[in-house]
Amino acid sequence: MRVIILGADGYLGWPLALRLAKRGHEVIGVDNLYTRNAVREVGSDSAFPLPDPEERIAAARKLLDVNITFYRADVKDFDKLHEIIQRHKPDAIVHFAEQRSAPYSMIDVNHANYTFINNITSTINLIYSIIKVDPTIHILKMGTMGEYGTPNYDILEAPFVEVEINGKRDKIPFPKWASSWYHWSKVYDSYNLLWANKVWNLTITDIMQGPVYGTRSEEIIDEKLRTRFDFDEVWGTVVNRYCVEAVLGLPLTPYGKGGQTRGFISLEDSMQALTLLLEHPPNQGEYRVVNQIHEVYSVAQIASMVKEVGESLGLKIDIQHVNNPRVEKEEHYYNVETKILPSLGFRPKKRMKEEIRNIIQDLIPYKSRLENFKHVILPKTDWRKGRS
Ligand SMILES: NC(=O)c1ccc[n+]([C@@H]2O[C@H](COP(=O)([O-])OP(=O)(O)OC[C@H]3O[C@@H](n4cnc5c(N)ncnc54)[C@H](O)[C@@H]3O)[C@@H](O)[C@H]2O)c1
Repeated sequence: MRVIILGADGYLGWPLALRLAKRGHEVIGVDNLYTRNAVREVGSDSAFPLPDPEERIAAARKLLDVNITFYRADVKDFDKLHEIIQRHKPDAIVHFAEQRSAPYSMIDVNHANYTFINNITSTINLIYSIIKVDPTIHILKMGTMGEYGTPNYDILEAPFVEVEINGKRDKIPFPKWASSWYHWSKVYDSYNLLWANKVWNLTITDIMQGPVYGTRSEEIIDEKLRTRFDFDEVWGTVVNRYCVEAVLGLPLTPYGKGGQTRGFISLEDSMQALTLLLEHPPNQGEYRVVNQIHEVYSVAQIASMVKEVGESLGLKIDIQHVNNPRVEKEEHYYNVETKILPSLGFRPKKRMKEEIRNIIQDLIPYKSRLENFKHVILPKTDWRKGRS
C-alpha cells in the first residue's frame, strides 16, 4: 500500500511511518515542523532531543532498512498538498497534521484562531485534493475521544443516532460536547468529513482516540529513532506528564478532585490499531467511526499507579492535587463502546502499569535535560483566564 502521513514528524506520525515502512508499505511523510516550534514557544521541548527529519530518516534507513520519503510542507497550503497527493497517488492518507493541544488553544484569541484555521483548513484541503486526484483514496483522520466530552450516556461507535423530538423521529450526527477550542476544532472536522462523505462518497475512517502514553514502539530500537515526548502543562498528556514529575522529584499533580476519567492507549497499541485500520479499510464510500482506547482510568488512579511504580524504582513520590485550570466535570459516568478494532483483530499488548515503568526508565537518563523545564510543568493555562 502507498500511504501519505500528514504530520509525520509528530509523536504518533514518526512511529507510524516506521511501522508502515517496516511492514513493506511505501511511506511518504509531510510535516511543517510546527509542533517542534510551538512547544519551544511555551518554553518547553521534547524530553528526548530530536534529530532533524532528514537525519531521522537516514537513521531509519540504516537501522531498520526502510525508505521514507519526506516533504517539509504546510498542509494549509492547498497547492503544495495537492502537488504531493497528485505526484504519489496514494491508496490512503493519514491525517495527523493538526494543532493538538487543548491548553494551547485556550491561551488567547490568537491561539484559538490558529487552532481553528490550521485544523479546519488542513482537513478541507485534504478533502478537495482527494476529490480531484482520486475520490477512492482512504482518509484515516485522527480525531479525539475529547470530541464527545463526558456524557451521561454510552459513547457509541456510530456516526448517527436516532432521536425523537416532539413525537417525530430522525437520525442526527452522534452528539458531541467538547471541552476546549482544540476539541471543538476536531468536532467540526468530523462533521465536515461526514458531510464530504455524503456529497462525494469519500471513504473515511474517523478515529476517536484517547490520550496516548509511552515512549516505545517496536521499531524504536535506538535513541536516534525516538519519537518526541511532551510533558509540559501545555503539550504533555497526563500519563507522560506525571512520569516526568516522578523522575524530577516533583509531586504528581492531578487537577481538582482527579475523578476525570478517560480511555487511554499506549503508543505501541495505537500503532497496532492504526495499522489494522489502514490494512482493513472500510467499504468504498463508507464513513467509519472508531473509538480507539484500551484502558479506562481516572487521573487520580493514574497518579496512584505512577507513585507505586516510581517508588518500586526507588523514586520518592508525593501526590498533590492542584486547582483545576480546565472547565470539566471532575466526577462523571464514562462508558465507551469499542467493537470495531477487536473485530479487526486488535489485541492490546501493553497495560498502563507496565508501560509506566518503561517510560520512567527511559526518562531517567535524560533527567538533567528535563531539569531545564521544571518551571513549565505546573498549570499556567487557565480555561477562563488564558496563560499567566
Ligand atoms: N497524542 C495523543 O494523545 C492524541 C490523542 C488523541 C488524538 N490525537 C491526535 O492525533 C494527531 C497526532 O497527534 P500527535 O500527538 O502525534 O501530535 P504532534 O503535534 O506530535 O504531531 C502532529 C504533527 O503535525 C504537524 N503539523 C501540524 N500542523 C501542520 C500543518 N498545517 N502542515 C504540516 N504539518 C503540520 C506538526 O508539526 C506535528 O509534527 C493529532 O491530530 C492529535 O490531535 C493525539
